[in-house]
Amino acid sequence: MAAEAYLWFKSLHIIGIIVWFAGLFYLVRLFIYHEESKNMDNELKIAFNKQYTLMEKRLANIITTPGMILALSMAICMVIMQPSWLSEKWLQIKISFVLGLVIYHSYCYKIMYSLQNGTSTISAKSLRLLNELPTLLLFIIVLLVIFKNNFPTSIATWSVVGLIIFMLASIQLYAKIRKKNENSLSNE
Ligand code: HEM
Repeated sequence: MAAEAYLWFKSLHIIGIIVWFAGLFYLVRLFIYHEESKNMDNELKIAFNKQYTLMEKRLANIITTPGMILALSMAICMVIMQPSWLSEKWLQIKISFVLGLVIYHSYCYKIMYSLQNGTSTISAKSLRLLNELPTLLLFIIVLLVIFKNNFPTSIATWSVVGLIIFMLASIQLYAKIRKKNENSLSNE
């Protein structure tokens, strides 16, 4: 019975993580569109501001934060059932990265409010860079739970890390080229 309960907690923990991350990724994407809409004509700008404000609020409050609460509360349930996890090095390191993720989550709320009341100073370019941070945290945290105290340090691992960084850099470059092309088309 206890073993089954533990598996339920773990399943809900993973579901919570998926929801949380889906929300975090989409939220910052919305911030980018919101920020870029500031360059539009006044009428359009007002309409987009209203729409993005609504979308961001709903995404943050109905999906992202509940996802975080589910993931973290299920994690607490697992630790209560098996307190010995807390003395494991991998979990201690994992918790410090999770703390970083919670700070990132709160920072997203700060950006959301500043975009909504027009006081945001963060550029679309910085937001794009910021959007890579949860990917990095997700990567490290998943490696920690899977490999636990045998965190891989081999050449194969670092090749995978290199590949991921290369893919992220390519996405950035593609976005840059696409934006440049869009700008040159609109100037024609
Ligand atoms: C303070 C926050 C957290 C705590 C205390 C915590 C704790 C735990 C514990 C005790 C397990 C069970 C390990 C096992 O049974 O082998 C687990 C599993 C897992 N956690 Fe977390 N976790 C937290 C947050 C997160 C976050 C933010 C992520 C993802 C970014 C994450 C990803 C996972 C995954 C993928 C598993 C399944 C691993 C497996 O089945 O081997 N956790 N977590």
